[in-house]
Amino acid sequence: MNMIRRMRAAAKAFLNPQAARRAGASPPPAGSPPFPRADAEPCALVNAVVSRFDRIPGFFNVDDCMHFYLILEMQALLGVTGDLLEIGPYFGRSTSLLVFCLKRDEKILVCDAFDAEIEDAYASTPTIDDLKRNIGLVNPDFDFDRLEIHSCLSKDLRIPADRRFRFAHVDGGHDAETAYHDISLAASRLLPRGIIAIDDYKHPDWPGVTEGTDRFLQERGSEFRVLADMNRHVAKGRKLYLTRAG
Ligand SMILES: C[S@@+](CC[C@H](N)C(=O)[O-])C[C@H]1O[C@@H](n2cnc3c(N)ncnc32)[C@H](O)[C@@H]1O
Repeated sequence: MNMIRRMRAAAKAFLNPQAARRAGASPPPAGSPPFPRADAEPCALVNAVVSRFDRIPGFFNVDDCMHFYLILEMQALLGVTGDLLEIGPYFGRSTSLLVFCLKRDEKILVCDAFDAEIEDAYASTPTIDDLKRNIGLVNPDFDFDRLEIHSCLSKDLRIPADRRFRFAHVDGGHDAETAYHDISLAASRLLPRGIIAIDDYKHPDWPGVTEGTDRFLQERGSEFRVLADMNRHVAKGRKLYLTRAG
């Protein structure tokens, strides 16, 4: 299965080199300044997470890490507690930060296609073992009973109707239909004062994310609003953070 998917990915990469470039996007491009700069004292978050997740393939960057951390800590300070949801953990780069931010009694649910056939082309296909190993790299004491992994397309993901999340990272399929579906699913399970983070909004190579997000906001704009719309260093796409209106 993996081999067939790799061959399909290679064919897609040949036909769509922009999409394929995602697969190698984890290291900062040559010439990027080091983070933090050499004469800056690294903070605890950098020492604990950034310095370790740099070894994990993926696209979650330092800016995302800081933004997610601040939101998740702020929620906890305000008494907003609940599980976390991620669609599209890939090799676990973003997941490792989410796990790092879990508070007592909270769990995390992730869904990824893994080796199932998907629209987008990636040169590498993560396995569940890769994901767990990488989460453990950043969170060596993590109790994996707090991690629920669904290996399926997000359209087949079934979450009990009464399950709620305080934070959802939507970073799975980048076509319009999937983006719309995933945002809608996250919205249907969002706690009051919960946040949905959407990856690659306005990315020129992935217009489906913008189309799916704009459709969601057009239809549900009275219920959900944009909390923050962020460019990030190096990234072409923006992260959009949604919350309930009012
Ligand atoms: C852009 S990567 C995620 C990157 C990761 N969040 C990070 O920050 O490093 C997208 C992931 O979504 C998964 N994916 C793509 N389409 C999907 C779908 N329809 N359902 C579930 N997962 C999907 C891919 O297998 C891939 O692992």
